[in-house]
Amino acid sequence: MKGIIFTSFIDLVEEKFGLEMLEDVISSAKLPNNGAYTAVGTYDHSQLIEMVMILSEKSAIPATDLVKAFGEHLFGVLSKTYPDLLEGLDSAFELLENVDGFIHIEVLKLYPDAKPPSFDCRRIDDNQLEMIYHSPRGMGDVAEGLILGCAAYYSQNIEVQREKKEPDNGETERFLLTLRSGAKPNE
Ligand code: HEM
Repeated sequence: MKGIIFTSFIDLVEEKFGLEMLEDVISSAKLPNNGAYTAVGTYDHSQLIEMVMILSEKSAIPATDLVKAFGEHLFGVLSKTYPDLLEGLDSAFELLENVDGFIHIEVLKLYPDAKPPSFDCRRIDDNQLEMIYHSPRGMGDVAEGLILGCAAYYSQNIEVQREKKEPDNGETERFLLTLRSGAKPNE
């Protein structure tokens, strides 16, 4: 997995929990590189999972919540790092429909060793989008966080319903997204 994912995680841990916690997590995770990541390097995704599990233990915050919050933060980092990829995409659904066929394809051109997940998208109507996530890395919580980060980027309110698919190993998940109107009637 590309280093930008790791550097974003490390920056967020330091920002939210402090340097001491970050150092504690890195030393407990017994990482081969001692937590030294570069944005363009490639590392085993199990190192990220290990750090999340340790942070969850030390902070008493469920790993799922940590990973979703990380995904939301990550969208902000990715959108700032690759602004060209967002050009012409004017809403969260428009962007999300382009993750598989455009954004992650461009990522692969930049980094042929990247392994992004795949998504099958189906627009049900103006307010509903179905995304089926497939990845042997089973990072549905990251996906959910990225979806919410994308909605926040466009100041849109999107409700996410999630359903694991059989076999329940996290490799395939269905996300049903519903666009809620932000303003209440008569406001
Ligand atoms: C500006 C937009 C985006 C960029 C530039 C981007 C780029 C990337 C990159 C570089 C990776 C790491 C792949 C690797 O190194 O193996 C990645 C992974 C991932 N991306 Fe995206 N991405 C974007 C938006 C999204 C969105 C909106 C979603 C959710 C619908 C998404 C879902 C994921 C997931 C879940 C992973 C983790 C790997 C996995 O599940 O197998 N991405 N993306």
